[in-house]
Amino acid sequence: GPLGEISIPLYFGFFLLSSVQDKIKCTANDFLKTLDTLEAFKKHMIDFTGKEESEVDLEQYFQAKEFLHCTTKFCNYGKAEGAKEYAAMPAVKKMYSFIFELSLTALFVTPRTVGAQVSLTEEQLLLWPADAESSVPAGASLPLGSRAHVTLGCAEGVEPVQTGLDLLEILALKQQDPKPDVVEEMELGSLTYYNEGRWMLSLREPIGARACFSSYYK
Ligand code: A2P
Repeated sequence: GPLGEISIPLYFGFFLLSSVQDKIKCTANDFLKTLDTLEAFKKHMIDFTGKEESEVDLEQYFQAKEFLHCTTKFCNYGKAEGAKEYAAMPAVKKMYSFIFELSLTALFVTPRTVGAQVSLTEEQLLLWPADAESSVPAGASLPLGSRAHVTLGCAEGVEPVQTGLDLLEILALKQQDPKPDVVEEMELGSLTYYNEGRWMLSLREPIGARACFSSYYK
């Protein structure tokens, strides 16, 4: 009935607990600060600035996000494709408001977005929609859950939906070339460059992030 439709949120997702948010924001800022100082990054700075010889302050470049979360299904109040079916899934109803431990396994940066890759467990994948990876770049086929991420920041004028697309692009490139050159061994892990301003830091130790499976209405 009509009430059922009204109750469909803007999106469902895992919402990081506030203590965890602060920790991850700090880690991300430290990473951006360090990245900015690396010769390897400076060499490709033009990807971000569009002109030679200019500098970029990455912490200023990205607008930080509030309410860090990992979107599972963007529903647009029932208007998005598959939204009603997702909201009606038994797993969604059963696990609504449950606390999960997310595993953040990489940080990535592009001229558009900065985010954290999330590696979902089998149980968490029960809450992952089957069509989330349908927009993978041509030629690639990525496993269910590949798009899972936390948007940490977006460049001016960039919508957060871009972060998942940037991640899929990087993972598709990684699949084509499973052993790309590691640019730098950093304290947190190995940094790889995937051309056109795409950087990924694979974390030596995944970051555990407690999060509540819930939904958001604006
Ligand atoms: P993300 O999950 O990458 O952070 P908005 O503020 O634009 O309404 O978006 C709300 C949330 O839903 C954001 O977290 C955003 O991206 C996600 N989102 C927005 N549009 C889409 C979409 N078309 N597909 C998947 N996720 C989306």
